[in-house]
Amino acid sequence: MKIAIIGTGYVGLVSGACFAESGHDVSCMDVDENKINDLTSGIISIYEPELKNLVVKNLKEQKLKFTTSMKEAVQNAQLIFICVGTPPKENGSADLRYVLSVADEIGKYLSEGSVIVIKSTVPAGTDKTVRDQILRVTKKSFFIASNPEFLGEGTAVHDFMNPHRTIIGIDDEEPKFLLRELYSDFPGELLFMTIESAMMAKYASNAFLATKISFINEIANLCECVGANIDDVARGMSLDPRIGKHFLKAGIGYGGSCFPKDVRALYQIASEHEHDFHLLKSVIEVNNNQRIKFFGKIKKELGDLNGKNICILGLSFKPNTDDIRESIGIDLAQKFSNAGAEVVVYDPRAMNNAKKVLLGVEFADSLNEAIQKTDAIVIATDWAEFRAIDSALLKEALEKPIIFDGRNLLNYKDLIRVGYKYFAIGR
Ligand SMILES: NC(=O)c1ccc[n+]([C@@H]2O[C@H](COP(=O)([O-])OP(=O)(O)OC[C@H]3O[C@@H](n4cnc5c(N)ncnc54)[C@H](O)[C@@H]3O)[C@@H](O)[C@H]2O)c1
Repeated sequence: MKIAIIGTGYVGLVSGACFAESGHDVSCMDVDENKINDLTSGIISIYEPELKNLVVKNLKEQKLKFTTSMKEAVQNAQLIFICVGTPPKENGSADLRYVLSVADEIGKYLSEGSVIVIKSTVPAGTDKTVRDQILRVTKKSFFIASNPEFLGEGTAVHDFMNPHRTIIGIDDEEPKFLLRELYSDFPGELLFMTIESAMMAKYASNAFLATKISFINEIANLCECVGANIDDVARGMSLDPRIGKHFLKAGIGYGGSCFPKDVRALYQIASEHEHDFHLLKSVIEVNNNQRIKFFGKIKKELGDLNGKNICILGLSFKPNTDDIRESIGIDLAQKFSNAGAEVVVYDPRAMNNAKKVLLGVEFADSLNEAIQKTDAIVIATDWAEFRAIDSALLKEALEKPIIFDGRNLLNYKDLIRVGYKYFAIGR
């Protein structure tokens, strides 16, 4: 099948590489010339496990191509996937300008009977705007579908290749066979529904996961008040299959390019329909407060932050990615630096991205360098590599910095036994 992918970011590149791997002829288009030049030479600017191998292999086999030309990508494609960003506007609603500018361009080049599949996360009704926009520039017949993406950064290739379910929103019968065929190689249930339902299913899924995180964080806060331990409480909950073990890890809250924006967008969609979504408002508030509380905890313990040495571990919004969008580590590093602290930061993968946005901090070359001569160690992302610091702290003659574990990552009992002060979330 001939497939065009418009927007070659996290979702577009992974989708393109995975469709090529499953035997299709894929053309990935992006307006970012540098990105396309790099990709054409097999250079991938984002860190995502397994992705580079897949891209290089399929480039070599000529199943995957990269271009800045909309015409080249779209003119013979049977399926055209829109994968551009939908960042939040000031009021929280999804900014559809990239989706709509793609719609303008696609219309000029699409071929008769092609299917335009919106993979970007967008509110119900966007399909109608996209259709109107395309109809302004073409008389050819085409179909519109929604195919929201559920991959998670850090496990994106695996998630894409092994979906739990694939959702297709489509109102026409005719093109269903193409989408059925496309996803026939992928496991998981294929669900057809209306476009509105598909678009809502994406927002509802992210909002539910964010709710789970805020819920367990509130339980952790309460654990601190009553002297309970969130690790035991969460484990006790998670063995109930009605609850499950995922997204029950207490911490300093969710970040990233999806949860914060999608939860706010859904809240905004509700408001536009005069529905006050109380629950989501609280989810957002709890999430924002979680890092404020943590900052306060550190401040209370260290006293005046001016001149204090603080090491922040973790700048990506979660482990196994270099994505720093809405990263709590970046936010905390900036807050400590603004408060006059001497901040040293370290992340296994996100240093280059962090250097573009973080001002007035020192970037360490290694974990070991970062944790030397510091008053406090703050863990902001649960990279597996950071688990090793408990043995380093136990072995090396460091001056026992106070440890603030924002992700409940460390094996804290041994640290406390040898005299470290250790603070976490609900432990
Ligand atoms: N990142 C994720 O984990 C994830 C997961 C599921 C869904 N989503 C959704 O998928 C969409 C894309 O997210 P992303 O993280 O891949 O975004 P991204 O910012 O990584 O990539 C978007 C790409 O689109 C390109 N672009 C912008 N305007 C364009 C245009 N007119 N023509 C061609 N290309 C253009 C940009 O240059 C960029 O490379 C969003 O709606 C997001 O909410 C993201």
